[in-house]
Amino acid sequence: MAAPRGEFTSRFGFLMAASGSAVGLGNIWGFPTNTASNGGAAFLIAYLVLTFALAYPALMAELIIGRHARSNAVAALKAIAPGRPSRLLAVFIGLMGILTVSFILSFYAIVSGWMIAFFFDPIARLLGMEGLAQWLVQDTAMRNSIFVIVFMLLTIFIISAGVKDGIEKWSSRLMPSLILILLLLILYVFTLPGAMDGLRAYLIPDFSRITDPQLLVDAMGQAFFSLSLGVGTMLVYGSYISKDENLPVVGSLVALLDVGIAVLAGLLILPAMYVALANGVEIFDASGGLIAGPGLIVSVLPALFNNMGAVGILVAAAFFVLMTIASLTSSISMLEVPVAYSVENHGAGRRTAALAIGSIITLISLLIVFNFDPLFDLVVNFTTERSQPLLSLFICIFVAWIWRRNDILEEIKQGCPQAEAGLFWKIWPFYVKFICPVAILVVYFQ
Ligand code: PHE
Repeated sequence: MAAPRGEFTSRFGFLMAASGSAVGLGNIWGFPTNTASNGGAAFLIAYLVLTFALAYPALMAELIIGRHARSNAVAALKAIAPGRPSRLLAVFIGLMGILTVSFILSFYAIVSGWMIAFFFDPIARLLGMEGLAQWLVQDTAMRNSIFVIVFMLLTIFIISAGVKDGIEKWSSRLMPSLILILLLLILYVFTLPGAMDGLRAYLIPDFSRITDPQLLVDAMGQAFFSLSLGVGTMLVYGSYISKDENLPVVGSLVALLDVGIAVLAGLLILPAMYVALANGVEIFDASGGLIAGPGLIVSVLPALFNNMGAVGILVAAAFFVLMTIASLTSSISMLEVPVAYSVENHGAGRRTAALAIGSIITLISLLIVFNFDPLFDLVVNFTTERSQPLLSLFICIFVAWIWRRNDILEEIKQGCPQAEAGLFWKIWPFYVKFICPVAILVVYFQ
């Protein structure tokens, strides 16, 4: 029989872990660049509306299922399925989630590895090791392989230690540091010439864009990816929440933290890009849009830091620590999904499972590293644009159409005895039943 399950020891611990999962490269990299290329604050508004109208209800669905079943994604979905066909569907969705999140981790680890390499670059320069510094910022399969392995080892190390001593402990240390570094960097960048132009590009909405289907598709994708939905991550974290906790409240705090940090990241990245422009760095691509892809993080910003002289070394190191922390608190939540499943459904030991599954994912990452052009975009698009929204849709359908309504209410009432009379219960069931599935499908087929 499997070992006893872990549990988050406090509300703070859960909030740091879940917001740590949510806040990642998606917030600090994806959100600001999506905003810049989609009409500034028009995108921000669409993103805020979609997060609270669609992604938050879907997040609640996962947290409620998880805490009710107190088990990994496959077992939890199975536990709420009443008949044989729905149980088969449950297993299918759960396993697809595990597979999807493992592939997300395989590309995420590559990008996170770049962040670690770029963190060491200013340090190498400080120590006068110019050759090493050059090597660290050059996009070679060798460098990428080494840092994928380093990043995955960190992830495996934390997950091996379990829920309380691994996930909760490290998230509670890393997330406050992330917020502090982010605030300090924003304050510093604001003092530099050009920053206010970036602020304008970010905050002045181009409302003609708000009905643009591409904007809505991007905003929804951003919202679901950012809240780590559909792949069982939030379901598994939900399964470690104490029964005394008020779920609608903690769920909304996670969504608020996620959105809040994305908005803050916008206050850093866009002003920083315009500061770079003022320093003579090219920030627009051939089509006139802001450089958004890997170029932003691995060329525009480093070029800016290089122009800053001695402070640039400190700022660059701080920035890439920030990115590494954001990645790590997300990657652990990804690895936890297959690990929890192997431990609970197949009786594996946690350490063995973390090491074995982590190694397989590392091998997939290396495969992508050595076949970057054909594979990288394919894996990213398939997992985040195809699989994730569909799985989220299925989870909403599961909760709203298959699970007994009374059981859901009973679960929410633990930790929130007045739930039945509250606003959440008046709105949410209708939302997950009708609005979320329809909206996800509409946007999906755009
Ligand atoms: N939410 C994370 C980010 O914004 C990514 C993620 C996706 C994490 C799916 C877990 C599961 O970067």
